[in-house]
Amino acid sequence: MSIAALSPTSFPGSISGLLQVASLLGLLLLLLKAVQLYLHRQWLLKALQQFPCPPSHWFFGHKHEFQIDQELEKLVKWAKEFPSACPRWLWGTKVVIVLYDPDYMKVILGRSDPKAHSTYRLLSPWIGYGLLLLNGQTWFQHRRTLTPAFHYDILKPYVAVMVNSVRVMLDKWEQLISQDSPLEIFQSVSLMTLDSIMKCAFSHQSGTQFDKNSHSYIQAIGDLNSLTFTRVRNIFHQNDTIYSLSSNGRLFKQACKLAHEHTDQVIKQRKSQLQDENELEKIKRKRHLDFLDILLFARMADGKSLSNKDLRAEVDTFMFEGHDTTASGISWTLYALAAHPEHQQKCREEVQSLLGDGSSITWEQLDQMPYTTMCIKEALRLYPPVPNVSRDLSKPVTFPDGRSLPKGITVSLSIYTLHHNPKVWPNPEVYDPSRFAPDATRHSHAFLPFSGGSRNCIGKQFAMNELKVAVALTLLRFELLPDPMRIPQPVARLVLKSKNGIYLRLRKLK
Ligand code: HEM
Repeated sequence: MSIAALSPTSFPGSISGLLQVASLLGLLLLLLKAVQLYLHRQWLLKALQQFPCPPSHWFFGHKHEFQIDQELEKLVKWAKEFPSACPRWLWGTKVVIVLYDPDYMKVILGRSDPKAHSTYRLLSPWIGYGLLLLNGQTWFQHRRTLTPAFHYDILKPYVAVMVNSVRVMLDKWEQLISQDSPLEIFQSVSLMTLDSIMKCAFSHQSGTQFDKNSHSYIQAIGDLNSLTFTRVRNIFHQNDTIYSLSSNGRLFKQACKLAHEHTDQVIKQRKSQLQDENELEKIKRKRHLDFLDILLFARMADGKSLSNKDLRAEVDTFMFEGHDTTASGISWTLYALAAHPEHQQKCREEVQSLLGDGSSITWEQLDQMPYTTMCIKEALRLYPPVPNVSRDLSKPVTFPDGRSLPKGITVSLSIYTLHHNPKVWPNPEVYDPSRFAPDATRHSHAFLPFSGGSRNCIGKQFAMNELKVAVALTLLRFELLPDPMRIPQPVARLVLKSKNGIYLRLRKLK
């Protein structure tokens, strides 16, 4: 190398040379990425040959088909046109196969494919890797550890706790309805279900329904619900760093912080209660522990207790799953009954003859309200609180009609579309509780509000109890009427919500 080449005057030359090399390398990498994406798209197109779908754009996929908040209606429309399943291109290289046929559901739910990584991972900064997001052996271990928290000996005394939480909500409603103006119920039902899960699963006794922090937590959960839902569908928000710099990413971080403050507080309080000898003695005498106590005392397969991170993930998971889903189920059921006074009255008569003035409800009585249960199930069919779940195929699958999909494809089990599929449910939009009459028959996988198979909802029994308690006590106290000016419009989120809230007119019964 000549001395001249090292002289300061040659630096600009060498810098621009370096820049040229770097740009060339950059271009090459971009080209390689483009080729890789192209090949992946070609592979997807080939893999989905047997599954027709509406035309899609090479880059934007089916974005043009889906107006904001029209996703549920659109998928039901597709179900009428494309039998059993239909590919939905989120963008050029991302496709999910939407399933809405009971035979297809049965095949997938009978396997043990992991949760769809690209979707569920977006929930992890919020609810961590708890039961909902875990897969494989760790999931199995956690599920086995937590199953006793839903033993019927544990659930039985919760009925009285639920009764109290519902009463607080109904008392509040009584105060609010004096002017006969419609009431938005989703918010207060959420506070009630949060109150109840806090007391039942977390031994937390504060007045959640009047507490400012609980309002902030509910608000944060609402934001996280919407933000995660929109992020899944946005190609530009898949990268964590880019997302964290966006306004939605900042909102997400803020809402996570709020939600975590709430759950940290609950863990901290219970841990400090357990420093007290008396409280420890009480626990030792219990045959079955509450959910949080199981976690605090759990020993995993390696003999170690749960790490703080794992503990927080389970608390965040159950705090969210345990209140938002039931709030959706209860609010939509009350709306369905308001919109169908004949069924409402039949339920009321059943509940009145069983419970009298409703001063108490026992566990046994929850099984003695068949008509009310039919009405609740029909509401869960029309308005399933979890509209959709998804899986990544860990091995190829062949469906009963002979069509198949290779390993690596993401399938989205659209519970909402299944429940609104006219090939499965005649006149699906009609609210008809007789579909769930004891002698009615249906496909084993036609009704899946709690999903199915090994990853079904662990809180199913808890949720059904809460639904029955809430519906029964509400009907004993109020006549429910819809607000004709604000008919709720279901919109898909992680949990089914109404775009314009759920407004009801309530009349106190004499
Ligand atoms: C009406 C109320 C409820 C509905 C409709 C519902 C529905 C569901 C569905 C569809 C799944 C499957 C999710 C998936 O595969 O990604 C699920 C899972 C789960 N649910 Fe629920 N749920 C309800 C209430 C509850 C309650 C009250 C709790 C807790 C107290 C709970 C805790 C969970 C957990 C932890 C999972 C994950 C289970 C696992 O993967 O092992 N859910 N739920």
